[in-house]
Amino acid sequence: MRNDQSTGGASHSRRAILAAAGAVAAGGAIGRARGAESLALEGGRPAVSAAPARQVEAARWPIFGPEEEAAVLSLLRNPGYGPIEDLERDWSERFAVPFARAHCNGTTALASMYFALDLPPGSEVLVPSYTFFSSIVPMRLFGLVPRFVDVNPRTLNFDLDDARRRLTPSVRAMLPVHWMGLPCPMDDMAAFAREHGLALLEDVAHAHGASYGGKPLGSWGRMSIFSYQASKPLPAMEGGMGTYLERDDFERATAFGHSEHPSRFPADSRYRRYAGASLGLKLRINPLAAALVRSQLPKLDARNEAGAAQVRRLNDRIAQLPGLVEPPCPPDARRIYYANNILFLDESKAGASREAIVKALQAEGVRARALSYPLQHKMAIYAEAEWWRHPPAIPDLPGSDEANRTAIALPYFTSDVPELVDQYAEAFEKVWAQRSKLG
Ligand SMILES: Cc1ncc(COP(=O)(O)O)c(C=O)c1O
Repeated sequence: MRNDQSTGGASHSRRAILAAAGAVAAGGAIGRARGAESLALEGGRPAVSAAPARQVEAARWPIFGPEEEAAVLSLLRNPGYGPIEDLERDWSERFAVPFARAHCNGTTALASMYFALDLPPGSEVLVPSYTFFSSIVPMRLFGLVPRFVDVNPRTLNFDLDDARRRLTPSVRAMLPVHWMGLPCPMDDMAAFAREHGLALLEDVAHAHGASYGGKPLGSWGRMSIFSYQASKPLPAMEGGMGTYLERDDFERATAFGHSEHPSRFPADSRYRRYAGASLGLKLRINPLAAALVRSQLPKLDARNEAGAAQVRRLNDRIAQLPGLVEPPCPPDARRIYYANNILFLDESKAGASREAIVKALQAEGVRARALSYPLQHKMAIYAEAEWWRHPPAIPDLPGSDEANRTAIALPYFTSDVPELVDQYAEAFEKVWAQRSKLG
C-alpha cells in the first residue's frame, strides 16, 4: 500500500520489513502456543521480532514518491500560483462543497472561519478541550469564547449530552472535531445545532476522506477546516483548507487573508470593495504545498482503505481480549486512521493496570504507549483574563480525564506489513493469557 509510493531503496521496501520481521513462517503455530511461553518481561522470547527501527519505518509518514516529486519539480520549473486554484476546484468537487479556500495551514483556516462567523463579542462556541490548541485559541482574536465540552471517553469525540448541559444563551456555534479520523455522529450534531440555532462547524484536521451517512466529513458543517501538516492523512508538510456551504462565509473568510481575491468576487459581493487589501492577514498557501496535496488526492481513498484494512486485521483479534475496547464507529460512518490506532483499557475487566499491560507489551516488542493528551482547558492561556475580552469558564471534564487514564496508542502502519501485525496480535494474546501475573 503506502510503501508503493516510496522512492526508497531496499531498506524502505515491504520485503525488507518482512525480512526483519524474521521467523514468521511458523506464525500460526507459534501464536497458538504463545500463552504457554514466558513473557518477555520474565526473560522469554519477545513475540515481535521486528527491530524497533524497522517498526518505525513501517509507520513512516509522510511518504512522498515519484508523483509528488514530479508535481513539485514541475512547479519549480514553471513557477506560478496555478496549483492553488486547481486544488480548490478539485477539493470542492471531491468533498461535495460549493466553496473551498486553501490557507497556509489548518490553524489559519480556523482563524478565518471564526472571522467569517461574524458573531458579537462574547458569543460562545461549544468545543472539546480534548483537541489541538488551534481548534480553540484563534477564537480569542475575534472576541469569541470557548465553551468547553467533554468528550466521550470511548471515542474521544464531542459528547452531545455534555454539550446539552453546557448550553447558555451566549452559545452560538459548535465545533465537533473528528478525532483521529473517527467521524462524530453528524446527523445528531446537525439536529442539535438546528434545535438550538447554532452554527455547525467541523474540524476535519484528522479525517480527510472519512464520511458520515454517505456524506464526506467537511460537507456537513456550515464551515469546515482541514490540515495538511506533515503528520496528517493528506500531508503537504504545511497547509490547510477551509470549506464553506454559504457564499457569504466563503467571501468573508477569504477577505480576511487573501488580498488577491476580492477583486474577483461577483459585483454584488459585500467584500468586493476591499479589493487590494485584506481585512487582516496574508494567509495564501504555498503553491508547492498545494501541488503536493493535489498530487495525492486521487490516491487518498485507496490509501485510507488499505490502512483501515490493516487496522482491522489487528483489532479484529485484540478487541476480543477482556477489557480491551476499540472506539465504536457509528454504523453509517466510514472512519479513517492517522498516526495512531487508539484503544482503551478497562482495568477492572482486564484484571491488570494500564501501566503493567503497556510495560509487558513493550517488552514483547510492541510499540504501545499509555496515551495522555494535554487538555486545553487546563492550560494557562484559558485561566488568564488578560488574553480574553470574555474569559472562558474552566469546567471539570471527567470523560476527558477518563480517556487520559485509559487510552493505549499503537502505531498506525503506513506500509503493508501483515506479518508484523500478526506478531502484534500474538504479543497481545500472550500478555493477556498471563495478565494475572502482572497485577
Ligand atoms: C484537531 C486539529 N485541528 C487543527 C489543527 C491545525 O492544523 P495545522 O497544524 O495545519 O495548523 C490540528 C493540527 O495538528 C489539529 O490536530
